[in-house]
Amino acid sequence: MPRSPIARATALASLVLILAIGGMVGWRMLDRDRDGAVAAAQGSSVIGGPFRLTDQFGAVRTDAEFRGRLMLVFFGFTNCPGVCPMEVQSMSRAVQALATQGDRVVPIFISVDPARDTVEQMRAFASNFDPRLVALTGSDAEIAAVAKAYRVYYERPTAAPDEPYDVPHSSMVYLIGTDGRYLTHFDVGTSAEAMAEGIRAHL
Ligand code: NI
Repeated sequence: MPRSPIARATALASLVLILAIGGMVGWRMLDRDRDGAVAAAQGSSVIGGPFRLTDQFGAVRTDAEFRGRLMLVFFGFTNCPGVCPMEVQSMSRAVQALATQGDRVVPIFISVDPARDTVEQMRAFASNFDPRLVALTGSDAEIAAVAKAYRVYYERPTAAPDEPYDVPHSSMVYLIGTDGRYLTHFDVGTSAEAMAEGIRAHL
């Protein structure tokens, strides 16, 4: 039996409505997926983040001022018997090996022992290395926050600052991009030459 024009118009209108609702639901799901992907990208896998710390000359330094340059970031403490001075030395030599391009990289040493690593102590330590080294210390809370952002493990000392103690800490060197985002890292013991090569790939 042939349908009346009214029945056909009603069926067409229903179809349009169903398609419209379907499209909206589909779009919203797509949107949620996209938000989910962004949230995942900004989630636990991300290393790095903002900081506001004090350098070896007593000046306040923030991550924002290093945008446009690469940051080579290492956490440690000045009383470290071996690994820390060796790593900071490798960072210094890597930046020097990059010659003029080295000015586009900021080597940064962040103390995980702020109780002993005063501004004066950091200045004495930093004077052993490339003058471009930025040696940062801060309050316990500031250091805890930046270490958390970089997924750096360290043990807070329980001994009094005047007694000798060690501060176990993770020892990777992080390379952060000109936009402040994590690029790569170098494992402890990476030679200055290998580090320079790794940095050059991102310059
Ligand atoms: Ni160390």
